[in-house]
Amino acid sequence: MTHGHSWQVAEATVARMQLAPVPLITFASTMRFQLDALLDPQGLDNLLEDLLSAQAEWRPGQESAGWHARGVKHNRQLDRGSPLHQRLAARVIATLEAHPLLQAAALPVRIHGLLFSRCGPGEGYGRHVDNAFMAGGRADVSFTLFLQDPSAYSGGGLMLESPAGEEEVRLAAGSAIVYPSTLLHRVAPVTGGERFVAVGWIQSRVRDADQRELLFDLDTARRQLFQREGKSEAFDLISRSYSNLLRRWGD
Ligand code: NI
Repeated sequence: MTHGHSWQVAEATVARMQLAPVPLITFASTMRFQLDALLDPQGLDNLLEDLLSAQAEWRPGQESAGWHARGVKHNRQLDRGSPLHQRLAARVIATLEAHPLLQAAALPVRIHGLLFSRCGPGEGYGRHVDNAFMAGGRADVSFTLFLQDPSAYSGGGLMLESPAGEEEVRLAAGSAIVYPSTLLHRVAPVTGGERFVAVGWIQSRVRDADQRELLFDLDTARRQLFQREGKSEAFDLISRSYSNLLRRWGD
């Protein structure tokens, strides 16, 4: 199921409020945003059932890690070559592609590398940065879609680093966190239960996170203006800046 909201000002404002504080040292964007209720409860139940079914084959996560991350990656992943993986991955990607906030904030060219990961007690993923290039494309933006409620496991938080420190992300089942692939991050060891997530990457029209953030600000501002005063002179000027910057920075 796709997210029910249309792309609207309220959503943009909420997304802006969820941004990390502006870093003091550099203007290196740590912009992250949350997509809530990406999958409905029934869809989630079906997906988890499929992941726990006998036909699901799980492989060591090290197989898909960069050489520098192999030593710190301790999880299992659904076999990417299996028909089950292909069916479930296609569903998650289609849902993400249809999301208006993701479109506006991440400017996706393609969503790729999707994998389903499970971590039991003692498993996790130590501090690393995601590879810049993968088989499916460039990784500009990373996402984690949580498939189980935080009460189903302990530990296992996604820890995102920024100049302000480390932030723990543990979202409700069906919600996703989307963040720049430039960030160092880790998955804290699971201490009880089992953590199921889907993770993947986005090649963006705009590779630079600072530029993406500027464009998202402009897009949000022009939508707010449009809602308030329609297609005014100010709206046209901001729209022009938005389109011309996208033309300049996009590929
Ligand atoms: Ni990672």
